[in-house]
Amino acid sequence: MPGVILCPGQGDPIGVPSVPAINWDQSMATGVDAVDDWNKKVIVWLNTLLAAMLRGKGQMEIHDLLDQLGAFTAAYFAHEEECVVRHKCPAAKKNAAAHDKASMLLDSLNAEFERNGATAHLTVRIETVLMRVLTGHMKQIDSGLYPCVQAFGKTV
Ligand SMILES: [Fe+2]
Repeated sequence: MPGVILCPGQGDPIGVPSVPAINWDQSMATGVDAVDDWNKKVIVWLNTLLAAMLRGKGQMEIHDLLDQLGAFTAAYFAHEEECVVRHKCPAAKKNAAAHDKASMLLDSLNAEFERNGATAHLTVRIETVLMRVLTGHMKQIDSGLYPCVQAFGKTV
């Protein structure tokens, strides 16, 4: 999977598998520092959530992380949508539609957690589907803001 790396030796005792993680890279850059910072924070949330699930952290911790990720992405999406409109980015509608789909995905993951807890199936869905959707969105849609910022200048 592109963009996925293994992070060996991050404090894991011998015998505990390394946690797959995603790192922000320049292909996700929007040219707006605030938006890039938010994207980086979303990635940190995702990595933290996934690490907690893979390490078998408590249900309450997983619940809190899912809640925080949902609240954070809702605020982040709203802020970014304002930014895209302000920079007259032609991808504004596509961006908003993708945010709606990602929000629905997060809701379905939360619902699955409420029904079944932090199962292996949910972990795999977060690792493969949510991470791919959000990082793909950053690379394929959010990065479309970059040429608009270059053309119109930063307004943030
Ligand atoms: Fe976006």
